[in-house]
Amino acid sequence: MKRACVIGWPIEHSRSPLIHGYWLNKYGVSGEYTKVAVHPDEAAAFLSGLADNGFAGCNVTVPLKEIAYKAADRRLPSADAVGAANTVWLENGQVCAENTDTYGFMTHLAQSAPDWQKGSGPAVILGAGGAARAIVHGLQEAGVDHIVVFNRTAERAKALARDFGSSVEAREWDARVDAPAWARLIVNTTTIGMKGEGDLGLDFKSAAKSCVVADIVYVPLETGLLKTAREHGLTAVDGLGMLLHQAVPGFERWFGVRPEVTDDLRARIIADLVGP
Ligand code: ATR
Repeated sequence: MKRACVIGWPIEHSRSPLIHGYWLNKYGVSGEYTKVAVHPDEAAAFLSGLADNGFAGCNVTVPLKEIAYKAADRRLPSADAVGAANTVWLENGQVCAENTDTYGFMTHLAQSAPDWQKGSGPAVILGAGGAARAIVHGLQEAGVDHIVVFNRTAERAKALARDFGSSVEAREWDARVDAPAWARLIVNTTTIGMKGEGDLGLDFKSAAKSCVVADIVYVPLETGLLKTAREHGLTAVDGLGMLLHQAVPGFERWFGVRPEVTDDLRARIIADLVGP
């Protein structure tokens, strides 16, 4: 029986076991996917002991993604671009790491906003953490040539722009307000809107109709940002799709089957998010 897990600190709230458990069952794979709470001080040792502990690999979540990246023997370009890894597997005795957030976001964007075009105009990223980096990387790979990053802490936005080159520009946080008027894609990667708290303060009154608005927050599924975007007739891309799609590559590596993100899986996870 093949075994994988998700590690983090804390780990109780992770939905990954639900997603992978659903696929194990659906594809009749003899495997197991569990949650393991791993303290940051123990993370490197846990990863180097994966094989001895009978694991084929693991997902990695907050706050261990940077540690996993550094601890790996081999890193894919997706992890190098972000400086963090969320998916780990073993190959010829080596601990290999990648970052599937880029794949997850871009796949969901393509499915949910098929009319969005990379050449249509500037993309705006709100936030400058690991998720922002993964998405900037994906947009650059897709050929977007103007990406504007707004972040509360200006230095972090500037550092991101420096790392990703001249197609990425950092602007002051306060200047984000009229982004809907000139951006063709807006992505919230901050925690604003999580559990209904906070407001991004964007002005949608003169929003361009072709502007696509995405949020990586998925609790609630319809964030304040997405609700406002929809009310103004814009295409809204929720955060749950990224969570589901980012899980695909890991499952395939550990269990040997490429799983599908279906409406039924989505419905199961939404039911869990909403609760009894
Ligand atoms: P991740 O790696 O998951 O993207 P992170 O590194 O914790 O997460 O980033 C969280 C993002 O939300 C950051 O851009 C953070 O801004 P700072 O860099 O200034 O901390 C942003 N953020 C969180 N709370 C915020 C708030 N109240 N107002 C504006 N930005 C906020």
